[in-house]
Amino acid sequence: MSKSTSNRVSNHTYPLILGVTGASGLIYAVRALKYLLAADYQVELVASKSTYMVWQAEQDIKMPSEAAAQEQFWREQAGVSNSGTLRCHPWSDVGAGIASGSFRTLGMIVMPCSMSTVAKLAVGLSSDLLERAADVQMKEGRKLVIVPRETPFSLIHLRNLTVLAEAGVRVVPAIPAWYHKPQSIEDLVDFVVARALDQLDIDCIPIQRWQGHR
Ligand SMILES: Cc1cc2nc3c(=O)[nH]c(=O)nc-3n(C[C@H](O)[C@H](O)[C@H](O)COP(=O)(O)O)c2cc1C
Repeated sequence: MSKSTSNRVSNHTYPLILGVTGASGLIYAVRALKYLLAADYQVELVASKSTYMVWQAEQDIKMPSEAAAQEQFWREQAGVSNSGTLRCHPWSDVGAGIASGSFRTLGMIVMPCSMSTVAKLAVGLSSDLLERAADVQMKEGRKLVIVPRETPFSLIHLRNLTVLAEAGVRVVPAIPAWYHKPQSIEDLVDFVVARALDQLDIDCIPIQRWQGHR
């Protein structure tokens, strides 16, 4: 194994959409945002309505709803005050730029992704901005990566995930590896986040990558 120190970024021309749902594990979104902003990416963030409840349950924190306050909130959580560009969108604003196919993006990552959102995406339901933005990535043939978080999976979950995989969505479950000898929760989380960003050809997280057996 060797530690990747690469801050190589493939493309900063267009923004990346980060969708955050009400699945457990908001730390996945926070760690992704930290690395993306530090690497100077433009991030368009949309958190679903249920995310507010999960912030409350996991961290005893009230997430603000107003866009500017949310941007400050997410930057504080990620610990990145200046670099990168962050724009937060209210969950209900289906008129936002990211709701349209004419708005160019690097793709979208939904992390963590609830089974409710998986189900809605699998049937093309766009009942909020996050679902609409994800649906747009699919219809435009852009990259959509989801990081589902649930256990155990029901047959219905598995069928919905299969439909999405068949439609070209990259499914990167929140399942860390252990061969990199994680020392902290952040090491485990970062492994999953890095593997998800790999799907978008974004390499901005210094994880231990397997280099073959020595
Ligand atoms: C504290 C908390 C943790 C949750 N964790 C999960 C989870 O890990 N996976 C999941 O599919 N749903 C989870 N849920 C349920 C979702 O939040 C719920 O299904 C919600 O409707 C999802 O909506 P969204 O996909 O629009 O965010 C959780 C709910 C709460 C309050």
